[in-house]
Amino acid sequence: MISINDWAAPPKALALCREEIHVWRVSLNKPEPGIQESFRLLNPDERERAGRFRFQKDRDHFTVARGALRVILSRYLDAPPERLSFCYNEYGKPSLPQRLADGDLRFNLSHSRGLALCAVACGCEIGVDVEWIRADLAGEETIATYFSNQEAETIRALPPELRTQAFFDCWTRKEAFIKAVGEGLSYPLDQFSVTVIPGRPARLLSAKGGAQEVGRWSLAALDCGAGYAAALAVEGDIKRLRGYDYDRQFT
Ligand SMILES: CC(C)(COP(=O)(O)OP(=O)(O)OC[C@H]1O[C@@H](n2cnc3c(N)ncnc32)[C@H](O)[C@@H]1OP(=O)(O)O)[C@@H](O)C(=O)NCCC(=O)NCCS
Repeated sequence: MISINDWAAPPKALALCREEIHVWRVSLNKPEPGIQESFRLLNPDERERAGRFRFQKDRDHFTVARGALRVILSRYLDAPPERLSFCYNEYGKPSLPQRLADGDLRFNLSHSRGLALCAVACGCEIGVDVEWIRADLAGEETIATYFSNQEAETIRALPPELRTQAFFDCWTRKEAFIKAVGEGLSYPLDQFSVTVIPGRPARLLSAKGGAQEVGRWSLAALDCGAGYAAALAVEGDIKRLRGYDYDRQFT
């Protein structure tokens, strides 16, 4: 697990080799000048999307997360953040267009309750998910609706004080996996299983493609602060994982 102490200040010269995965932690609660600065980096589509949020807070968080995503990717690509463009697959997963994906740079973004995680990899699919832990969401109805039988049975068998954590560990691992695959919710959530017992390593246990599909993916739990659960899914092995704190000065 990447622990909170490991979210380092990012170095000036950033390099990402094929063995490495970088995860950036971004605080989305910024003062007005920071939000304006992020807004200036967005393209017309993103500005239009920002304008569609009903609540100011959601609009600001979307703006800051997209701005940070652009700044982070620009550091690897050595290109101005406002000049980046994105492509989307049929399920909405954003990626860099071929001409920009220097060295096959891939990324994924997740945000929840004022915190964003941006995961960056080279030459492999990647998915990340962060969720604010809310005990009221971890109910039987949600478990029965979204989780596989194996996951649901394991969670139900846990002592009550471990269930909320197990629920969100399960949720974020599943979300990270479907986001890495890129199919969003059209990948049937009850047709694959992840590990859910708190303290045990994050792993994919079964998937609709069978053992070959299971062997193709690695999962990791991320500790990004009290009150949050987070997970990462990567195609292939996770050999080296680095956590960077976006809000610390580049050193
Ligand atoms: C869109 C989805 C991929 C993730 O949604 P989410 O958990 O609400 O949101 P997150 O903050 O984690 O991720 C959103 C980001 O993922 C990226 N994304 C969008 N579609 C994606 C896809 N198909 N695959 C991977 N990433 C995707 C985008 O960057 C998006 O952020 P942006 O639009 O602000 O740039 C999809 O899985 C979803 O709608 N989930 C709903 C939650 C749910 O019901 N989960 C079931 C319990 S396991």
